[in-house]
Amino acid sequence: MKLKIAILPGDGIGPEVTREAVRILRSVGEDRGYDFQLTERLIGGAAIKETGTPLPESTLETCLKSDAVFLGAVGSPEFDGLSPEKRPEAGLLNLRKALGGFANLRPAICYDPILDCSPLKADVVKGANVLFVRELLGGIYFGEPRGFSGANRDAAYNTMRYSVEEIERVARIAFEAARSRRKKVTSVDKANVLETSQLWRQVVTLIAKEFREVQLEHMYVDACAMKLVTNPTSFDVVLTENLFGDILSDEAAVITGSLGMLASATLGGTVDLYEPVHGSAPDIAGKGIANPLGAIATAALLLRHSAGLEQEARDVEEAIRQVLDAGHRTADLMRGKTKYKANTSEMGSLVEHAVADMLDRRRAYHAV
Ligand code: IPM
Ligand code: MN
Repeated sequence: MKLKIAILPGDGIGPEVTREAVRILRSVGEDRGYDFQLTERLIGGAAIKETGTPLPESTLETCLKSDAVFLGAVGSPEFDGLSPEKRPEAGLLNLRKALGGFANLRPAICYDPILDCSPLKADVVKGANVLFVRELLGGIYFGEPRGFSGANRDAAYNTMRYSVEEIERVARIAFEAARSRRKKVTSVDKANVLETSQLWRQVVTLIAKEFREVQLEHMYVDACAMKLVTNPTSFDVVLTENLFGDILSDEAAVITGSLGMLASATLGGTVDLYEPVHGSAPDIAGKGIANPLGAIATAALLLRHSAGLEQEARDVEEAIRQVLDAGHRTADLMRGKTKYKANTSEMGSLVEHAVADMLDRRRAYHAV
């Protein structure tokens, strides 16, 4: 099978963690006789420096012709003064829009071996496994009108807007996901204040009727923010709009021990987009110490959703757990007991070997 994958390393630690994710993709692809055709392109600040724009035409063209896009990270403090449409982040937002994926899946899993990395008590986070389904193409990120106003730009405004259709399509994805999990959807809104949230609540309630076996609860976003850290195991699937999902998914990093652990997949459009949730982390960029596990877990999501390699995706996820269980830690995970310290490429290589061992073992098992 042939799969065209556009690789956009981007800014900061993006290129470092992307290298490790690509290493895993290549080795699984080779093992399974898949022809993964990887094409690297510029995005974000790296693209602005080379071409003057955060999403060059050649990048967009390559992505639109691909079966999947893997993106490392965008953003750099050197562009901080620029207006939103000129910043590196605009490259990512325009790419999301062009690819059309509206459902951003962000699993936040507490792996047992790194229980002690969370600042939360072990008995609070143990077993936590929350899937955020974040609406990605609507809400205040894209609503018009927006801008500065007043002669001296002394006011500014953004618009939060949602249509029934936008809510329906992302809600269905959340309920479908819940069906193969613990069958619970928590829909998060601010319906006590916002009309968009009132519409959100109405539509989600209607969609829930198509999924009788899934339990639906509604929760205000402020309450959810608290409950995520006081009782994370009470959540299964969290369905929410764009900005709330952005904020809550970073908060959920606390459950996993590090923002460097979080993966994401954006589905529903013409081309699926895969990005780790962490940003470009300019403070540690270029040092080779970034945690590549979020990017590697993102590669696992790509194997699952775009390559149809469910077993291999599980193998990669299990390999991450094994490597952590053996005591290997990147700098961000050194909070608990002292373990073996690994840099970015050592961590990538450990996971690669663990995956290869699993694939070998399965082959040997099937051969007898
Ligand atoms: C994320 C990021 C992006 C977002 C930025 C880089 C535009 O924070 O993917 O969570 O806000 O969606
Ligand atoms: Mn974010």
